[in-house]
Amino acid sequence: MADNKESRKVLVLLGSPRKKGNSAILAGQIIMGAESAGAEVETIFLHEKKIAPCQSCYACQKKDSKGCAIDDDMQPIFQKLIKTDSWVIASPVYWFTMSAQTKLFMDRCFALSAYQKNPFAGKRIAIAMSYGDTDPFTSGCVNALRTFQDAFRYVGSKIVGVVYGSALEAGEIDSNTALMKTAEELGKKLAG
Ligand SMILES: Cc1cc2nc3c(=O)[nH]c(=O)nc-3n(C[C@H](O)[C@H](O)[C@H](O)COP(=O)(O)O)c2cc1C
Repeated sequence: MADNKESRKVLVLLGSPRKKGNSAILAGQIIMGAESAGAEVETIFLHEKKIAPCQSCYACQKKDSKGCAIDDDMQPIFQKLIKTDSWVIASPVYWFTMSAQTKLFMDRCFALSAYQKNPFAGKRIAIAMSYGDTDPFTSGCVNALRTFQDAFRYVGSKIVGVVYGSALEAGEIDSNTALMKTAEELGKKLAG
């Protein structure tokens, strides 16, 4: 672990506009598990942040880059991402993949390499997703999971586990007690 890393710290990125929605509840269970294992958790509600789309200027990829050229709320998030080894990404399924809020965040992570060499190496990631359909395939959840899998494999991060479930109305996922337990266990694993 690099010197500037804060050990047993978990950064949670909530990608739904519903603060108390299903993916946030799943993330909450992961947090409960992580905290019970001794982790310190910080949560970022992406929807209330000003995060512009990547503008493909490649300023972040230039030699001696000073970072992402877009001066918005991603700037402090870059610093937190660098300093935290364990991330939770929670998203609803929107139009057969992750939410726009989550995708904006993912695209902007392209610039992380301007702040640290191999910024994704050694990161441990948990994914939480919810969808309205009854099936993870027809809902599009699997598309999003594949995207996360491909992206984090490409950059050398480890997906520690994924939790996902069907629920349409906000809070509905709460009644899936088996899933709640699985999410809590994932939190313990992430922090452990
Ligand atoms: C704009 C929008 C698009 C959606 N697209 C899908 C979809 O493609 N597949 C699906 O199963 N559910 C879809 N849903 C339902 C949500 O995935 C579902 O309600 C989910 O539990 C919401 O999670 P949240 O409470 O964390 O926001 C959509 C909902 C919205 C608002």
